[in-house]
Amino acid sequence: LNFGNAEFVRSAASPSQFVRDGAPQIVFAGRSNVGKSSVINRLLGRKNFARVGSAPGKTSQINYFRIDRQAYLVDLPGYGYAKVSKAEKERWGQLMESYFQDEGELITLGVLIVDARHKPTADDCVMCDWFRQSRCPMIVVANKVDKLKKSEVEANLQLIRDTLQIAEGEPMVAFSAEKGEGRETLLRELSLHCG
Ligand code: GTP
Ligand code: MG
Repeated sequence: LNFGNAEFVRSAASPSQFVRDGAPQIVFAGRSNVGKSSVINRLLGRKNFARVGSAPGKTSQINYFRIDRQAYLVDLPGYGYAKVSKAEKERWGQLMESYFQDEGELITLGVLIVDARHKPTADDCVMCDWFRQSRCPMIVVANKVDKLKKSEVEANLQLIRDTLQIAEGEPMVAFSAEKGEGRETLLRELSLHCG
């Protein structure tokens, strides 16, 4: 699969705009500002292809990127940003619910992105359970690992595993969208779920 061949397809703000062409979709979920869009850019080797923001809440719609004309990377709006209005949170919840329940979409992998520096939040745990309940294969990515000291990495990864209850054999990737660490590992995992 050629990740260098990527094209932006569309942004969806409501179910009528969802992509339902039967091609596999790999979804990127996580807290606002955790780096979902940055991880996608790093994977594709592009700058600001998926739009990155300094303020949380940059991605407010569901963005579809087609890879090699056969699969999609789906950039979801982030959750858990405290300053968002109640109405905006409800809109997010409805959009996510419609997306995950939509019969026409073929979600083959959930990429749950968490912050390598912190214990996963209650929202991260809810998202994780959501993937498990829907029996969707999931991989956890601990992003911003460049912000940790080398000596801190192992303990932080273990805390993430323990909090999300990820078994020893299940994959988890330490990642840095900033520096590129973990890119090859994650690309390998993604290509297993593209066809
Ligand atoms: P929303 O669209 O608001 O949900 O955010 P997002 O999860 O898509 O995050 P985004 O990619 O916009 O990145 C948020 C901020 O974190 C930006 O300032 C990025 O430059 C920064 N960032 C993302 N990944 C990394 C990383 O691996 N290391 C460091 N140091 N900064 C990162
Ligand atoms: Mg984003």
